[in-house]
Amino acid sequence: MTQLADQHLDFAALEAEFTPHLALGVDAQNLLFRDARTPNSFTDEPVTDAQLEAIYELAKWAPTAMNSQPLRVLAVRSDEARARLIPHLAGSNQARTASAPLVLVLAADYDFHDDFAKTFPVFPGARDVFADESARIESATMNATLQMGYFIVAIRAAGLTAGPMTGFDADGVTREFFPDGRHRALMVVNVGHPAADAFRSRQPRLDYDEAVATV
Ligand SMILES: Cc1cc2nc3c(=O)[nH]c(=O)nc-3n(C[C@H](O)[C@H](O)[C@H](O)COP(=O)(O)O)c2cc1C
Repeated sequence: MTQLADQHLDFAALEAEFTPHLALGVDAQNLLFRDARTPNSFTDEPVTDAQLEAIYELAKWAPTAMNSQPLRVLAVRSDEARARLIPHLAGSNQARTASAPLVLVLAADYDFHDDFAKTFPVFPGARDVFADESARIESATMNATLQMGYFIVAIRAAGLTAGPMTGFDADGVTREFFPDGRHRALMVVNVGHPAADAFRSRQPRLDYDEAVATV
């Protein structure tokens, strides 16, 4: 049974109906999806560098186009760096980030094609496919965003809670933390253990028939 059963949702029925069709054990299903929530506040319990490395080492295996892996992760650890980040965040997001033991700025590397000799050696012409900058930006944005989703699930796999946010001045954060011009900040993620009052009520998800069509 899930740990965070909500009065509006019959999680036990969902577990019973769909677990026979899933290869993942029910505890892992709940850890990664049904029990995993988006927190507004955190306890003081730290998130270690070893945990962050384990999260990256799990998430990195998920797929990207041509194995391009454009996601870059900046761990905001120092008080000085956090003070530079918070003014760029919208309204109540500032307090969320102030209370998080670990804050990540997730960015896309628009020059991911420079790594193809390492990441896609099976195709020596890979770099030339992305000679055009606008094609690079489009691909980097899509694939880094995909990797951000994988990263959130990997944070949950570490038993931590992830608070993704796009409510921030992306130009400002990019200027502040990636002044080289080849990166773009796409998301800020607060990471830690949830405080007692961390969660708002769970909002409904679309049903299968509302989101999935068959032709
Ligand atoms: C891409 C993305 C951007 C988000 N931006 C914000 C944000 O700026 N501020 C905020 O409070 N929550 C933000 N959220 C949190 C969502 O509102 C939350 O994950 C969603 O309502 C589901 O909540 P639950 O995981 O608790 O069910 C964001 C989530 C995602 C995935």
